[in-house]
Amino acid sequence: MQLLITCPFGLVSLLSKELKKLWYTAKETFSTALMLETDLEGLYRINLWSRIANKVYLILGQGEILDFDQLFDKVWSLSWREYISDFNTLSVQVSTKDSLLSFGRSIQSVAHKAILNSLGDFSSSRSGISEVFLYLEKNQMSICVNTSGPSLHQRGWRKQTGIAPLKENIAAAIVLFTGWRFKSPLRDPCCGSGTILIEAAMIAKNIAPGMQRNFAFQSFATFDAELRGTLVEEATSKIYQQNYLLYGSDQDATLLQIAQENALRAGVSESIQRTEGKFEEQQTPFSEQFRLISNPPYGKRIWSEEDLAPLYESLLQTISVHQGGIISSYPWLKQLFSSKEFSHKSLYNGADLVDFYRKKPC
Ligand SMILES: C[S@@+](CC[C@H](N)C(=O)[O-])C[C@H]1O[C@@H](n2cnc3c(N)ncnc32)[C@H](O)[C@@H]1O
Repeated sequence: MQLLITCPFGLVSLLSKELKKLWYTAKETFSTALMLETDLEGLYRINLWSRIANKVYLILGQGEILDFDQLFDKVWSLSWREYISDFNTLSVQVSTKDSLLSFGRSIQSVAHKAILNSLGDFSSSRSGISEVFLYLEKNQMSICVNTSGPSLHQRGWRKQTGIAPLKENIAAAIVLFTGWRFKSPLRDPCCGSGTILIEAAMIAKNIAPGMQRNFAFQSFATFDAELRGTLVEEATSKIYQQNYLLYGSDQDATLLQIAQENALRAGVSESIQRTEGKFEEQQTPFSEQFRLISNPPYGKRIWSEEDLAPLYESLLQTISVHQGGIISSYPWLKQLFSSKEFSHKSLYNGADLVDFYRKKPC
């Protein structure tokens, strides 16, 4: 079977690397997705283990489409009963490029009709969504079904957040980009609901990110519960029991409490210590081995840019002597972190463009 695996912009090479470690090699890569060939076990394993992916799609059909009749026939001929549950609402998303059929709404409506027609007595009691994605480029169509369900960044441990949380897969990505070695203590001085530290602890303890959630493939007629059970058991046996040194602080005590509850749900609370306070006022010096990874406020939603100047000065000073990185869309970040000591990457946290600066190893 062929899978199309999507990820946030800027992370496709990291996704490819991650999948290689799981023994899956990409056949083709795009700007926010890659394609690979695998089996049912691969599909389950990638959903369970990917820290970077957004969604895993199973490609059901491919071929040349020149008119609406061809589109209907091709879509209708696929084995939808295996993948679309009676209890779900059907959502068809369409993307087209350089093709004879170019009007997305009409393509969507024909494909939708063809799937319902093919399903026959599709009942109308709805509790979830079956998501189909149709991609047409240069008249070549690929049509696939979402096997993940909600985006994989939703691990299940985060019930509450602050105002500007990082998505879990972006947090995991910046931890991996900084090359944090688990032996050195890690500090996030603006930790909010704890996303960076929790993802870092899960990486260090080798906890599969999808352990606490369900996936769309569990409602497929082809679902192999025994295989999934075996993979979950295997993942449980691979968790390191050792604890690591992670320190979170924030000026907001309520958020620290939320971080604690999130860490408990993620199974990493023993590894994370918390203290309340403004970073620029903290007296305890950092020991040399510390690494700092943080997502400080941007100055857009609550604080003004000037209010944040002392905080960013302190962060710059600290990170200049420690390895690590900063992710933020603070407008003066570029000026502050422009030196050759830092490498830069643009990422999207949802719809927000953010800059990630990493201190280059000395
Ligand atoms: C962008 S949010 C971090 C969100 C976090 N990454 C998450 O996923 O929940 C910035 C955080 O910095 C904290 N903060 C703002 N100014 C601070 C300061 N001077 N010292 C320490 N924390 C500060 C805020 O309370 C907020 O939780």
